[in-house]
This record gives sequence, structure tokens and C-alpha cells, in this order.
Amino acid sequence: MSILSGKNILLGITAGIAAYKTASLVRLFVKSGAHVKVVMTPSAKDFVTPLTLSTLSKHPVYSSFVNEEDDNAVWNNHVDLGLWADIFVIAPATANTLSKMANGTSDNLLLATYLSAKCPVYFAPAMDLDMYKHPSSLQSFKTLESFGNVMIPATSGELASGLVGEGRMAEPKDIVSFIEHDILGKLPLRNKKVLITAGPTHEAIDPVRFIGNHSSGKMGFEIAKSAANLGAEVILITGPTHEKVVHSQINIIPVTSAQEMYDEVHNYFKTVDIAVLSAAVADFKPKEVATQKIKKKAPTLTLELEKTKDILASLGDIKKQQYLVGFALETNNELENAKGKLKRKNLNLIVLNSLKDKGAGFKSNTNKVTFIDDKGDITEFQLKSKAKVAEDLLNKIISQINA
Ligand code: CTP
Repeated sequence: MSILSGKNILLGITAGIAAYKTASLVRLFVKSGAHVKVVMTPSAKDFVTPLTLSTLSKHPVYSSFVNEEDDNAVWNNHVDLGLWADIFVIAPATANTLSKMANGTSDNLLLATYLSAKCPVYFAPAMDLDMYKHPSSLQSFKTLESFGNVMIPATSGELASGLVGEGRMAEPKDIVSFIEHDILGKLPLRNKKVLITAGPTHEAIDPVRFIGNHSSGKMGFEIAKSAANLGAEVILITGPTHEKVVHSQINIIPVTSAQEMYDEVHNYFKTVDIAVLSAAVADFKPKEVATQKIKKKAPTLTLELEKTKDILASLGDIKKQQYLVGFALETNNELENAKGKLKRKNLNLIVLNSLKDKGAGFKSNTNKVTFIDDKGDITEFQLKSKAKVAEDLLNKIISQINA
């Protein structure tokens, strides 16, 4: 999955011949899972039709402040459009538009939207070679970069004028990978490896039965997604679950029992920077596993159980540089019990769930948590979606590892 997946990308098209390539650029953004809207300068419509772009982006294309074709003229709100965008890409960006952007001119919808956008802005210049090298263009690039905008450099090749040199807009596929790399390179968990455990474990009684619990795995999967979206390489070791995730940064290792989870966690732990153990690991397992299905001949059946290995505690014993996070599900004396676990298991952070809180716990999409860190800081959160809890947790971890 691309880092652009789920992102709102606003593509600004200006009047350069390279505008004809924006049809494939829109396709590539859509293919990467992004939502795409297009805003164009009025003269860009001479180079590529709004119909092509609206068909490919599945959204109306905006080019003027008012939709005149409509009987009930509609105001195209540049502020809404600017705020909608997670990323604003101006491609092709002509010398004229770049100069206006650098000077705060807003005499068309694209420029007004540029001034309203708060998101990262990328611009891909396209112009003839002498224009590209003109001090005025160089000044625009510099000014825009000083605003924090990112230039996607033009390439060399045959230009529309027939001249050969620098000034060709980067190819659509290169624009997409430039933006992906740029975003990944700036993410707070880039170059970090994160191990996450999720879901329940199943402890076999016989070939067809097991002891398990109601954990859905949702919390762990949300943490994995969040960490991956922040640039981490994620190893997600999960017990049996219906949860699914496809992400280029997430490597899923399915396991069934506590022992298998223990083995896989120890396989990877030495290589990771952060480990978050959110799995609901069975604390006990049958001492003997019957090789054949147990028949119901006897009126009662007694199973002897023995303790599973405590995976989290075993990591606390051996951890070096790793930042270690555990979960605690408590029903009484919550804070004290959680603080005790934090210490006993040598953790950096513990996430406390109280079963007293409605909407917290195993199957729901929401959770209500309290973070307790090894410095004694306690942060209590309101009930929120597990996706938001995952974001809070990663923000906390990032602030701690950078402290
Ligand atoms: N955990 C683990 N391995 C186990 C049991 C638990 O790694 N065999 C981890 C869980 O993933 C969680 C944390 O330990 O991060 C807390 O689990 P919990 O069951 O609340 O605590 P326990 O230490 O098992 O204590 P108790 O059940 O007595 O409350």
C-alpha cells in the first residue's frame, strides 16, 4: 500500500504543454489509493479537458470562483478546497504561476487556493530551458522553498520548443514516487522497526478444541497501521483474528498459541526499536494436549492447566535499546495494578484499560485508556476510536523516544 493511500490530493494544473500528462498523474494518484480533486487555471483548459480530469478523478474539476455553466451559480470555495487537501501538487507549474505564488497574487482560483492551503505543497516546474534558468524563475523557486514548498525538479530532454535541455516536467510516475519518498523521509518513525503483538491466542485441548478469549485484534492492528503510516517498518505478530491489513510497511506473522507468539516475538525482538505488546495472550494452557478428539464418555472432565510464558516480562528482562510498551486490562485497583506491572515487567509505558469503562475493551471499535510512563507521568483519555487511541499511543512513544 502506498503512503498516499487515503490522502486527499489536490492537483493544481497550470497552462503548460505538460498538462496533457496530468491525466496519467491523476490515474496514478487514484491507483495509489488517494482521493484526488483538480483545480486548474482557466488557460490550462486549452491543454487538457476538465471532462478527462473529472472522469479520472471522479470529482468535479474547479477552475473559476463561480460555476457559470450552472443556472444556480455555485461559489467554488477556495478555502474549503485548500483545507480539504492533505497534499497540494502543482504540476505542471509554469513560470507565470510560480512567480504569482511567490508574490502572493491570487487572481485565479488555483492561486487563491494555494494561499488558503495549510498542507504540504509540491510544485513541478515545466518551462523552456532559458525560462527555467532565468534569474526570475530561480528566484521564484527559492522564495517558494523558503515558504516550505517542495520543488520536484524538472528533467532534461526535448522541449515543446524543439530545444533540448532542462525544463521538462518530471514524468508522472516520478512525481508520485518523489512525493512518496519525500513524505516517508519526513515521517517521525522512518528507519524505526516496530514489533506489535495483537489478537488472542488459542491453546489446544485436543485436535479440534482450544481455550481462547474474545480479543478481536482491532487495537493491535490499528497500532500497526498508525506506526506504518508514520514511516515505521512493522512486524505484526498476531493470533487468530478476522482483522485484515495490506500495507507495504507491515509484515504480518500469524501465530496460534502463546508459545508460538513467544518464539516469533523473540525471533524479531533484538532487531527492533519499539515493541508494543497488545495481544491478549492466554495466561494458562492445557498441560497435556490430547492427540485424539476427547470423547464425551465421562460425566465430567478435568483439564489441568499450566502457565504460559509471560512474553512481555521476558522482553523486559532482556531489553536493551528497545522502548517497551505493555497493556493492562484491570477491573479493580486499576492504577496501582498497572503501575505494578510497569515496574515488574521493566516497561517504558503501560496502557491501562479499565473494564469498568463502557466502550473499552475487547470487541468494540472504541477504547478508553490511560497511559502511565516510567517517569511517573499519567495521562487519562476520553473514550475514542481505537484508530485515535493508536495515534495517541504513537505520539506518546515518539515524544518519549525523542525526549
Ligand atoms: N502478556 C504477555 N504474555 C502473557 C500474558 C500477558 O505478553 N503470557 C502481556 C499482554 O500482551 C499485555 C500485558 O502482558 O501487554 C498485560 O497482560 P495482563 O493479562 O493484563 O497482565 P498479567 O501480567 O498477565 O497479569 P494478571 O493477568 O494477573 O492481571
